[in-house]
Amino acid sequence: MAAQKKTPSTGAPGEGEGTATPLHVAVVMDGNGRWAKQRGLPRSLGHRAGVDALKRTVSAAAELNVRWLTVFGFSTENWSRPAAEVAELMALPKRYFESDIARLEREGVRVRVIGRREGLSDELVKIIEGAQARTAHNDRFFLNIAFNYGGQADIADAARRFAEEVAAGRAKPSDLNEQLFARQLATADSPPPDVIIRPSGEQRLSNFLLWEAAYAELVFQDVLWPDYGAEHLKAALQTFAARDRRYGAVVADDVLAAG
Ligand code: IPE
Ligand code: MG
Repeated sequence: MAAQKKTPSTGAPGEGEGTATPLHVAVVMDGNGRWAKQRGLPRSLGHRAGVDALKRTVSAAAELNVRWLTVFGFSTENWSRPAAEVAELMALPKRYFESDIARLEREGVRVRVIGRREGLSDELVKIIEGAQARTAHNDRFFLNIAFNYGGQADIADAARRFAEEVAAGRAKPSDLNEQLFARQLATADSPPPDVIIRPSGEQRLSNFLLWEAAYAELVFQDVLWPDYGAEHLKAALQTFAARDRRYGAVVADDVLAAG
């Protein structure tokens, strides 16, 4: 079984093969509130500092030859935060795109916002669609921003869409397998993440990329997101490079030893 590749192939010849560079890095941006609290600042300022950390991390990821970066910006569970904080978080995509979309476009970044559009204001949906359209021609680096996203919600939405196809007579239940199901997910256009990084000391996925995380390496770092930068990403990628990815298989030496 050819299971010893360090990274999943994207089809491009030689890409990712034989290197320990993850093609797809995912990050749970966490710790904004604690960062603000440590400084006696309102949580909103922690979130704004988090946007600066995102800018640094996108640049650093491109620099380190990562091709896909998926970041968790707002979860389907974050609606239960106080209304003022939800409003602050809802304002972040506008803040980010207003200050950075021209640079992202110029530097070849394709932006996609994954997650449910329901619940977002018409203005925000327009901003999101505008940022996606403006960078749709880019293919040097792919930035997925998970916003109003939940892994369970995405799986439920995918299941509903397939059920609708069956109900309409366009598909049969027996057609469904892992590959077809994955094509219904919000991340259908990206390879699965090679590594999921969570700063801030918390060690859980919190409903991020549940399906896609099947064989992702998990790296937890003791740094709050607003302090995150190139050196932290580099350290996380070094940790990733030292991992032995086996995708459920065994390496040839172990087979021989066991035999
Ligand atoms: C991450 O920081 C931002 C979002 C989850 C939207 P937090 O706001 O979760 O910060 P902490 O965990 O309270 O420090
Ligand atoms: Mg948190």
